[in-house]
Amino acid sequence: MKHFTSVNDVTDLKKWVDEALKIKADPQGFVDIGGQKTLGLVFLNPSLRTRMSTQKAAMNLGMNTMVINMDKEGWRLEMNDNVIMDGYSVEHIKEAAAVLGQYCDILGLRCFPNLKDRHEDYSEEVLNKFIKYCGVPVVSLESATLHPLQSFADLITIKEHATKPKPKVVLTWAPHVKPLPQAVSNSFSEWMVKAQELDMVDFVITHPEGYELAEEFTKGAMINTNQDEALKNADFVYVKNWSSYNKYGEILSDGKGWMMDNEKLKLTDNAKVMHCLPVRRGLELGNDILDGNNSLVIHEAGNRVFAAQTVLKKLIEGNK
Ligand code: CP
Repeated sequence: MKHFTSVNDVTDLKKWVDEALKIKADPQGFVDIGGQKTLGLVFLNPSLRTRMSTQKAAMNLGMNTMVINMDKEGWRLEMNDNVIMDGYSVEHIKEAAAVLGQYCDILGLRCFPNLKDRHEDYSEEVLNKFIKYCGVPVVSLESATLHPLQSFADLITIKEHATKPKPKVVLTWAPHVKPLPQAVSNSFSEWMVKAQELDMVDFVITHPEGYELAEEFTKGAMINTNQDEALKNADFVYVKNWSSYNKYGEILSDGKGWMMDNEKLKLTDNAKVMHCLPVRRGLELGNDILDGNNSLVIHEAGNRVFAAQTVLKKLIEGNK
């Protein structure tokens, strides 16, 4: 593995989950592996969990970490090639990424989509240019289309809490007031499709008409636009809003009747409920669920450390 940007960088999904759980059982067990190498975390967008959990993971491996909130603290970046930079941008990504690569052994990058130009977002222009110019291994901290560290933590959480060999996992669309990226949902879907191929889960996606995700991430999943039907016998319900992919970046519905609450939970097999956070209480997910025993959201956020630690460990081992 040279970089970690999607499930396709995972060589053996089952083994990686088992390894993450071993690391969780003894988080400081590999404290010598980092050898004081430097992890740089570059944020073009806000973060709580990704920032803190990845730093914690690096500390557990004996690495040093440097963080830059590029959107607030860095120079305004130019992404286009062959331009005369006589506008607002001050530094080209060619130089910025190359310089960061001089200071760091591994770099993490968060770069959200603009949700205006689907082709631009889905080509992962920013992530790919960063990889091209920085010259060191890159970990996605959530890109325009995917959030692999989150999905890895989600799969670890499902493995820990499953009471059946092949639990039913339902990804359900949830209401929101702002247009959100599809990254978390695309990523969760591609990880669950892979897990389904390995007989680890049965995977179903439910959303209102018009909220179909890109097929490249959902191929192999059962898709049902009737939420009540989809929730039947679910063991895990993964709640997430996303804006439309087909009418790119648009909100198509007020989402009335789609919020998961304890009433909807009755349709399931007493399902555990997941959300990547941050969550808007009472809009995306009911307070009754978040404050109840079925919620796994805090546990899931905790597992972000062990997902990141597994990935960093593998990158370091590969670079030895
Ligand atoms: N779930 C997640 O990635 O959280 P942050 O945006 O706070 O990092």
